[in-house]
Amino acid sequence: MAAIFGNFLMDNMEAVTLTASGARGYRAALCAELAKPLLVRDVPSPPLQPHQVRVGVHYCGLNFADILACQGLYQEKHTLPFTPAGRHDSSPDTHPTVVFWQGCRVIGVTGTTAMAEECVIDQKMLWRIPEGVSDEDAAALPVTYGTATLVLDRRARVQPGETVLVTAGAGATGLAVIDLAVNIFKAKVIAAAGSDAKCELALKSGASHSVNYGRSSLRDEVKRLTDGRGADVAVEAVGGDIFKAALQSLAWEGRIVVMGFAGGKIPSIPANLLLLKNVSAMGVYWSRYQKENFPVFSSAISSALQYHQEGKIHPNIGAVFKLEEANEAFNHVLQRKSTGKVIISMK
Ligand SMILES: NC(=O)c1ccc[n+]([C@@H]2O[C@H](COP(=O)([O-])OP(=O)(O)OC[C@H]3O[C@@H](n4cnc5c(N)ncnc54)[C@H](OP(=O)(O)O)[C@@H]3O)[C@@H](O)[C@H]2O)c1
Repeated sequence: MAAIFGNFLMDNMEAVTLTASGARGYRAALCAELAKPLLVRDVPSPPLQPHQVRVGVHYCGLNFADILACQGLYQEKHTLPFTPAGRHDSSPDTHPTVVFWQGCRVIGVTGTTAMAEECVIDQKMLWRIPEGVSDEDAAALPVTYGTATLVLDRRARVQPGETVLVTAGAGATGLAVIDLAVNIFKAKVIAAAGSDAKCELALKSGASHSVNYGRSSLRDEVKRLTDGRGADVAVEAVGGDIFKAALQSLAWEGRIVVMGFAGGKIPSIPANLLLLKNVSAMGVYWSRYQKENFPVFSSAISSALQYHQEGKIHPNIGAVFKLEEANEAFNHVLQRKSTGKVIISMK
C-alpha cells in the first residue's frame, strides 16, 4: 500500500544516465537511515513488469507524509533503504516499455515519493495532464487537491453557504481546501495558521477570515467571527491543542475531519464534546481510497485537473527545490517556513 506519494511528469527518458557499474540508471534521493538526511545517488533502473511504464520525472510534490516516513513516524513503514521511486534492483530491463504513453505529459501517484529522475509505475496510476495546465501546477495537484476533494465532498459533505474552518490554512493542503471550498463548494472559509503572513496569504487565496493561532485563541476567534454560532465544518491538520480548539469551535451538528498531526501530537476526542452539540468526528486518509475505492480516488484527481483546466482553481506553489536540495526542502516544511506546495525539480 502506498505510504508516501509523488506526482511526476513523463518525458522520453531524457534523464537516463549510466551508473558507476555501467548499468542504466538515474539520480534519486534515498532514505538510507531513518531521521537522517537523504542521500542523492545514482541508482540502477529497475526492470519493468507487465502493465508498468517507465517515466522520466520533471517535478515531484513534497508531502508532509514523505517527511514523516523518512523519520519513521508515518503510519506505514518502508524497508530501508527506500527511495522516492520505490525499491531499486539491479536486474536488466526485461519488459518493453508500453508505447502508448510515450511523449505524454502525465501525473502519477507512486507508492513512495518519486523523488528521482525516473520512476516505474503501473499505468493505472497515471493521469494525462490536460492542455493549459503547467507541469509545475500538475505536480502540485494530486495529493493536496485529491485530499481536499475527499474531505469536503465525500467526508464532510460541505453545502453551499456553510462555514469551513481549516487549520495549517496556508500550507499545501490547507490552501487547496480553501480554493475548493470557496470556488467549487461555494462555502465560506475561516483559515487558521501560525503567523500573520500565513493568515494574509490565506485571505488572498479566498478565505473570508483568518485566525493566527500563534497568538489568539482559535475557539474565541471562531465564535466571534461566526456571531457565536461556530463553524459547520473543521478540517484539522495540526493535532494536539489545536485539534481540541477546532472541535470546540464547531456549530450545532458540526463535522470535524481529522486530516493529520503536523504538530506531532495525536489528540484524544472528549466524547462529551460530540454529544453536547450533536457533532460528528471523522477521518480522512486519501491514499487508502487507492486500495479501497479506486474510482473515488481517481475521480478526485481527474476533477482537480479538470477544474484547473477550466480556470476554477489556482494551486499555490510556494517553493521549488532541486533534487540535490531535497534535505533543504524537508527542513523548509518542518520548520514551518513553507506556504503552499513545495515541489522538487529534477532539471
Ligand atoms: N490524511 C490524508 O490523507 C492527508 C493528505 C495530505 C496531507 N495530510 C496531512 O495534512 C497536514 C498538512 O500536510 P501538508 O503536506 O499540506 O503540509 P503543510 O500544511 O504544507 O505544512 C505543514 C504545516 O503544518 C503546520 N504545523 C503546525 N505545527 C507544526 C510542526 N510542529 N511542525 C511542522 N509543521 C507544523 C505549519 O503551519 P502553521 O505554521 O500555519 O501552523 C506547517 O506549515 C499534515 O498533517 C499531513 O500529514 C493528510
